[in-house]
Amino acid sequence: ASTLGAAAAQSGRYFGTAIASGKLGDSAYTTIANREFDMVTAENEMKIDATEPNRGQFNFSAGDRVYNWAVQNGKRVRGHTLAWHSQQPGWMQQLSGSTLRQAMINHINGVMGHYKGKIYAWDVVNEAYADGNSGGRRDSNLQRTGNDWIEVAFRTARAADPAAKLCYNDYNIDNWSWAKTQGVYNMVRDFKSRGVPIDCVGLQSHFNGNSPYNGNYRTTIQSFAALGVDVQITELDIQGGSATTYANVVNDCLAVPRCTGVTVWGVRDSDSWLGSGAAPLLFDGNGNKKAAYTAVLNAL
Ligand code: XIL
Repeated sequence: ASTLGAAAAQSGRYFGTAIASGKLGDSAYTTIANREFDMVTAENEMKIDATEPNRGQFNFSAGDRVYNWAVQNGKRVRGHTLAWHSQQPGWMQQLSGSTLRQAMINHINGVMGHYKGKIYAWDVVNEAYADGNSGGRRDSNLQRTGNDWIEVAFRTARAADPAAKLCYNDYNIDNWSWAKTQGVYNMVRDFKSRGVPIDCVGLQSHFNGNSPYNGNYRTTIQSFAALGVDVQITELDIQGGSATTYANVVNDCLAVPRCTGVTVWGVRDSDSWLGSGAAPLLFDGNGNKKAAYTAVLNAL
């Protein structure tokens, strides 16, 4: 195969990218994105602040631009994200307690209702665990509504769109030896044992000097999969763009049948949220394929 999407499809997987609605008028960008990828995540356009800027008033204009571009070009869409401490609209940041809990439920119903039957997988809850050695939850306004907020979000999501896979998504849960990874693992195990609906775990996989790729990544993927969930690599970027590390990541996913796909967090280095100096993606700022691109294509 000569593109990332077609190469991933050889093993029944997908290869995706984050898409920014503001770049859909850039033909250099859309040419690469359309050619190489078969799964799309909206980089910001389906987040809480974008989709519910005022309480109870939903706005899907930017989200729909990304969605429509993807589907018109034959791609599937991952939904990102419904319940998160970050990128909350101002009105939500000010809520607490049962009012916030209900607002979260209403938000999930509003967004998943709009895209009902159209989304491959939703990142229902994003980044709910704390960094460091606690292995526990991150403090946030959502967490302060009660420890059950995550399972309430997943139960709400299952009812809102039974066709979508429901994922828990986080960063720094790639290294099996880290407390944060174990905390999320224990939550997923608990959810599966109690019948809380969860279908997948998203490993964001933003690799850099502080949280580098580790050789136990495959163990992490295998361990989550053994709980009975799919694993998706949802926001991959590697500071410095090491071709070897990119190949390792892809090989680790391919080694686990329930690792269903890989998404990179942007098209060209110049599109990266980290800035082009980080050179973390598969295409350079001129749209040329980097060594990392070839390594990924050969690994798939
Ligand atoms: C980032 C976007 O790439 C930026 O454009 C935005 O300013 C901030 O959010 N984890 C996530 C993503 O789940 O939503 C984040 O995306 C990157 C970290």
